[in-house]
Formats: sequence, structure tokens, C-alpha cells
Amino acid sequence: MTTLENEPVKTAESPEIQTDFDIHDPAGVETLFDDYAELRSKCPVAHSTKWGGHWVMTRYDDISEAMRTPELFSSECVNIPPTIGQDGPMIPLEIDPPDHTTYRQIMTPLFSPTRMRKLEPEIREIVLELLDSIGDATEIDFVAAFAKELPTRVFLKLMGWSEGDAERLNDWTDRIVLGLPGASEEDNTAFRMEAALEVYAYFAELIDERFEQRETDGPREVDRDIDDITDVLVNSKFGDRDLTQFEMLNILFLMMIGGLHTVQGQLAHSWIHFAQHPDKRKELVENPEIIPAAVEEMLRYESAVAGARVVQEDVVVGGVLLKAGDRVLIPLAAANRDPEKFDRPDEIDFAREPNPHVAFGGGRHRCLGSHLARIELTIAFSEWHKRFPDYRLNPEAPYKKHLSQVRGVEKLPLLLNQSL
Ligand code: HEM
Repeated sequence: MTTLENEPVKTAESPEIQTDFDIHDPAGVETLFDDYAELRSKCPVAHSTKWGGHWVMTRYDDISEAMRTPELFSSECVNIPPTIGQDGPMIPLEIDPPDHTTYRQIMTPLFSPTRMRKLEPEIREIVLELLDSIGDATEIDFVAAFAKELPTRVFLKLMGWSEGDAERLNDWTDRIVLGLPGASEEDNTAFRMEAALEVYAYFAELIDERFEQRETDGPREVDRDIDDITDVLVNSKFGDRDLTQFEMLNILFLMMIGGLHTVQGQLAHSWIHFAQHPDKRKELVENPEIIPAAVEEMLRYESAVAGARVVQEDVVVGGVLLKAGDRVLIPLAAANRDPEKFDRPDEIDFAREPNPHVAFGGGRHRCLGSHLARIELTIAFSEWHKRFPDYRLNPEAPYKKHLSQVRGVEKLPLLLNQSL
């Protein structure tokens, strides 16, 4: 990456770097990695004509550098198109330093490795309950029966909210993350906003209950290792003032969007591969000690998130001039399959070492929930394969993937206790 110099550069108008790549186009769901590979080899910083025009980076080094340079690549808006229905910036994801640092000081302890490790027994219990409820079934939808339920129940526990709300939470996140594939920007935004408004009303009620409690009991020193996240937020300070309800709503909105579909998609994408490749499954069943490394490799191989940044000043990257105000898509799935960084990038290798993937992002905005996600995935990989070492895709009912800035799987019919 270079700042502007007197060198010949391509611009947003240069025909050779134009593409119609669309991160929301359902038609691209099975060709995504080929599309990234083609862009990377022909024009690693390409200009897409979709969604009002934006850049698409595909090289590991460019994407990593963009994530680590907030003064050139701001996180003020990480969505293309600019909204997924939220009212105000998602906090802390769409906040730049210095305020970002203050929010992270409040939030980082809530997701610390120590606090997350203490949650392990409860997460295991949720996993075992889900496996028990699958019981002797021989045909299931893995997404509905397992991948969707696990992160939602864990999230509700973290927040201190009722498990009975899982269905509503899942419905809202589906509507917000999936939008209306193929519809116009206007229709998509309206559809997502409707769901977002319902979410905000639900959060507001829960926060108000805690505020009332604080009024009655008086403010108290929270214990970040024990208290649920809602209590901690209600009793937290941004500098010397309380967090406002608006800030809390936008923190909760992000945690919900960031914490549910990501884990769900990661599980379901991994299970598609395991169902299709009994040799890989066998490795997990016979050598459970490799599971943490397998989790990392599947994170690299199927990275869910394609973030975005807004250029702050004119800058040249890969011989292409990005202008202040331009939007840049930074798909982590493209970075993690870059052959310049990873040997045999399209191959799953549980023994890959080192594995410097950026599935959780990098720099200041690196995923706050990564420890939690890793624990959820590790327990799921492990307990599931103890209970169901054999399964395959259902040839009568195909899976359905979806493409958006958080890729995922909507439906994954599996036949249990059968192998290829
Ligand atoms: C496999 C699961 C997950 C993946 C792949 C993932 C990925 C990411 C990525 C790539 C970012 C940075 C985006 C950017 O820089 O534009 C991020 C940020 C974030 N994630 Fe995750 N995430 C996962 C799970 C979770 C969970 C379980 C939670 C919490 C419940 C969570 C909460 C957050 C938050 C709060 C941020 C914003 C951090 C900041 O801006 O400082 N994530 N995640």
C-alpha cells in the first residue's frame, strides 16, 4: 500500500479493473471462491459496478493492511449498501479511534478468555441438550436442529435473557442478515428496518427493566466476571458519563448480528464438508486432540465475514487509485485463500501450521467474540462427533447457502448414522 505518488495508476473508471461482483447475489453462492481467485489474479483491487460502485480487495496483504490502518480506511460504515436496518452506528464496529478504544475498554472484559472459559460447562450442557433432542432421528435439518440453536442459546445466557426468546431472536437475525435476496436496495432496507425496529423495541424493554432495578437498588459496582452483559452495560461508564440507551441498543444489536449467524454459518459450512468427506470426519473422530486445529482450519477455509471500509484520503493500493469517500469491500474469505499467503489454499489441512488466518478480522476491530466462538465450535465439533460419527448429505433435499456480508447456510438436510 502506498500513499499517493506520481505513478501511473488505474482509477475507478479504468475498464480493465471493472467487475460486476456482487456480495449479495444468490447466483454467486457456489462460484464465490473461483470469483475471488479470478479477481485476485487479474485485478486484486477491482472496481465493482454494483451497489453504487465500490472496490473489492482480494489479497491477504491488502486486506490485512486496510484493517490495520483506520486513519486511511475508516470503519464508519462496514456495510455495502450502507445499512442493514440499524439506527445509528453499530458499536464498536462502526466507530473509529479514539471512541472505539473507550468502548472496547468497556466490552473487552466481557469476552475475556477467562470469563469465556468459565462458560464452557454451560455451553457443553447446551450442546448435549441439543444432541439429546435429536435423539434417534435419522433425518434432520442441521441448521434448525443444531447450528442455529447453539449460538442463540449461548447468547441469551450471556445476556441474562430468557431462553424462550430464541425463536424471536433467530427470526430477527435471519431477516436482517439475509434481507430480501435479489430485491432492490430500497426494498431490502425497508425489509431489514422493519425487523431492526422490532429488535430495538425488545432490547429497550430489557434494558429499561434493568434501569428500573438500578433506580430501586442504586448504582452498583458490577463484577465483570460474574454479572450478565446487560447488567454490566447498564452500570458501565463511557469516560465519566453513563452509557446512553441509544449506545446500549447499538451495542446489543451488533452482538446479536455478530454472534449468531457467524457461528451458525461456520458450523453449517464445516458440516457440509465433513458430510461430503468421510476421511476428514474420521480424522476428527479418531483423533479428537486435533479438533482445535481443525476449528482454525475450517475458520480459514470458510470465513463468513466480508467487512467494508470507507477511504479517508486518496491512496494507491496495487496500482489502483482509491479516492477519499470510496467504499471498499474486504472479504476475509478471499484473504484466507490467497496462495501468496497459504500453501494449497483450497485444500483443507487440519495439520496446517502456521495458520495465520484472518477469519476474525485484524487490528483494532478484531472480533470481540473470538474466544467465545472458538469454545462453541470446539465443543460442537467434539461432542457432535462422539454422538454422530456418521452422516451424509440428504440426496433428496439439497442444502441452501446464502451470500451476504455474513455468508451462511439456511438449510442443511442431513441423514444421520449413514456414511458415503
Ligand atoms: C465464527 C464466528 C465469528 C466470526 C467469523 C466473527 C468475525 C468477526 C470479524 C471478521 C469481525 C471484524 C469485522 C471488521 O473489522 O469489519 C468481528 C467483530 C466483532 N465480533 Fe465477531 N465473529 C464471530 C463470532 C462472534 C461472537 C460469538 C460474538 C459475540 C457474541 C462476536 C462479536 C463481535 C463484536 C462485538 C465485534 C466488533 C469488534 C470491534 O469493532 O471492535 N463475534 N467479528
